[in-house]
Amino acid sequence: MKMVVAWSILALGMGMPTMAQNMSYEADNFYHSNNVTVQPINFSTQYQTTVAANFFYLKEHNNSAAPAIVVGHPMGAVKEQSANLYATKLAEQGFITVSIDIPFWGGSDGEPRNAVLPDFYAEAFSAAVDYLGSQSLRPVDRERIGGLGICGSGSFVISAAKLDPRLKAIATASMYDMGTLVRQGLRNSQSVDQLKATIAEAAQQRWTEIEGGETQYTSGTLNHLTANATPVEREFYDYYRTKRGEFTPVGSTPELTTHPTLSSFTKFVNFYPFSGIEMISPRPMLFISGDQAHSREFSEDAYSRAAEPKELLWIPGAGHVDLYDRTELIPFQRLTEFFQTSLA
Ligand SMILES: *[C@@H]1O[C@H](CO)[C@@H](O)[C@H](O)[C@H]1NC(C)=O
Ligand SMILES: *[C@@H]1O[C@H](CO)[C@@H](O)[C@H](O)[C@H]1NC(C)=O
Ligand SMILES: *[C@@H]1O[C@H](CO)[C@@H](O)[C@H](O)[C@H]1NC(C)=O
Ligand SMILES: *[C@@H]1O[C@H](CO)[C@@H](O)[C@H](O)[C@H]1NC(C)=O
Repeated sequence: MKMVVAWSILALGMGMPTMAQNMSYEADNFYHSNNVTVQPINFSTQYQTTVAANFFYLKEHNNSAAPAIVVGHPMGAVKEQSANLYATKLAEQGFITVSIDIPFWGGSDGEPRNAVLPDFYAEAFSAAVDYLGSQSLRPVDRERIGGLGICGSGSFVISAAKLDPRLKAIATASMYDMGTLVRQGLRNSQSVDQLKATIAEAAQQRWTEIEGGETQYTSGTLNHLTANATPVEREFYDYYRTKRGEFTPVGSTPELTTHPTLSSFTKFVNFYPFSGIEMISPRPMLFISGDQAHSREFSEDAYSRAAEPKELLWIPGAGHVDLYDRTELIPFQRLTEFFQTSLA
């Protein structure tokens, strides 16, 4: 009780109530469509681990082969967060879509849980292509499969597309380049010494773990809002820690969601998803970002390095998390046109 009172006073003082309310204006993360059938599926990676996923298709369909899209969730999230929403909306438009849990997260295999291994995350997109092109639930045209990544998955799907020309068109929304983020921080805010300290801490934690000590977690979303939480932390909190987007997969706990393991987090230091991005050409790329997004630098960077055909689509007034679930801001119509054209 005491906490709640303290919070309302603080919130009033900072003019937060309006902002907080409106952060989720028209948010609909758990959107369900009466027009779409959803089926839980799983398939194997190249390394014989299982990826958990959902398969979406229009209830009313003819039997001609349809184009398909693999959809990846934000870093630290699971398919129930944002990925299912995009997959449902695109399925309504006639695409066959698959939302995946990346390895170590949600229902997908991988120990320890919440571990970081970006190459393995990218592999999950290719494994989904394997699956789509060989399954018998609905006919899919192998030549018409695309990829869509939200936040961290934006960088994972690009990483996948560089090695997998079966992904014929790539779109990202609110992309985070997890490599640059971990090396340099947002807008280059992290010094080399700070990075070295993070690396040293992760390496030290390996000693702890090898000696049987407890797993430590890092980064992710605050479990409790603190008075000095930054606007970025508040933005994530509003999604991941409220009924707006909160989701705890089987086997995890609310405290652990969004947090990668500390000793594996530095695997992102060696992750350069935009190196060689021009090789994806002539397959088309669409980068979508809010013009107010704290992550906008990553879409700009990817766009500037990619070769034609490419498009950088700014959503006026939108922030980073807005494109996870605010259905009136997410340009589903534009995404539909992009994939209809590029997977024609
Ligand atoms: C929230 O934002 C929407 C659209 O930007 C606006 O129409 C609405 O009035 C806002 N609501 C509040 C409570 O500020
Ligand atoms: C994976 O899918 C198969 C059907 O393709 C099903 O029999 C099996 O139970 C599923 N496994 C898991 C762990 O969900
Ligand atoms: C659902 O299908 C009906 C019948 O085809 C259509 O009129 C309606 O627009 C569809 N709704 C959505 C949200 O796609
Ligand atoms: C089947 O449905 C797809 C997608 O809704 C459509 O593009 C295609 O023209 C249809 N084919 C036939 C033969 O009706």
